[in-house]
Amino acid sequence: MKSPPEPRAFFFLEKYDWDRFFPLENKCKIKNNFSFEIIFETNCRINSVCYSKSMKLISIGNDKGGVGKTVTALHLAALFAARGKTLLVDGDRNRSATDWVAAGPGLGFETVHLDDLSGSLDHFDFVVVDTKGGEESLLSLAKRSDFLVIPSKPEAVSLRVLMRTLETLKNEGVLYKVLLTDVPTYPSVDGHDARGMLLDAGIPLFGAEIRSSAAFRKAMIDGVTVREVKRDPRAKRAWMDYELVVKEILG
Ligand SMILES: Nc1ncnc2c1ncn2[C@@H]1O[C@H](COP(=O)(O)OP(=O)(O)OP(=O)(O)O)[C@@H](O)[C@H]1O
Ligand SMILES: [Mg+2]
Repeated sequence: MKSPPEPRAFFFLEKYDWDRFFPLENKCKIKNNFSFEIIFETNCRINSVCYSKSMKLISIGNDKGGVGKTVTALHLAALFAARGKTLLVDGDRNRSATDWVAAGPGLGFETVHLDDLSGSLDHFDFVVVDTKGGEESLLSLAKRSDFLVIPSKPEAVSLRVLMRTLETLKNEGVLYKVLLTDVPTYPSVDGHDARGMLLDAGIPLFGAEIRSSAAFRKAMIDGVTVREVKRDPRAKRAWMDYELVVKEILG
């Protein structure tokens, strides 16, 4: 069996809401009353950094690829950056978020790849984690986050698969919501139908949804957010959609 990597940090229990983490604690060993050392048995690297209760850790996940995880992570990070010091953690080996940011002038937040993450995150007000679909269960991701955003395009077939996956989050006390992305506008009724299906199934769903816009592709090429995409009225609208999402997350 592969030996676990050296523990790199401690959680400080007086600062940390450790009850929420404790179900994971076949991974951890209590050292004393004030701290416990992380012992990894899996690749849970996000656990290896100091994490204070005042910071908000928002993860973006969905087992399915191409549903708008990176677009969402990047836009939420840009919007959080206007409210506090923000770090975007790129958890995808393809480094899509890192490349997006590197292509432009900077977006007001720091970016680090998960492989390079170490030390304290205490000085960040918000940490947004973009993940690679299917690498770990949504439940373990949700348990290690203050809030899990699950983007999904409003396609009936993938939504049905998603609803089965979401069963695992029920009654677990984790905070998550599905975010409909790339929602086609009128006369398409895909968004409306998807919303109805999810609500009928009792799935927590953002009231806001992200409408389809070619501005996202332009923004990615230029390394900016849709707010900076000029001469495209849909770009402004798409930015406003993400503003509403942030308002819902922060309450
Ligand atoms: N609201 C939207 N309107 C139009 N296109 C969108 C929208 N959201 C995402 N897209 C497009 O969908 C594609 C996939 O988006 P993104 O890369 O964010 O998905 P992902 O879930 O991170 O994919 P992966 O699983 O490969 O990491 C991109 O081409 C992106 O521009
Ligand atoms: Mg991605």
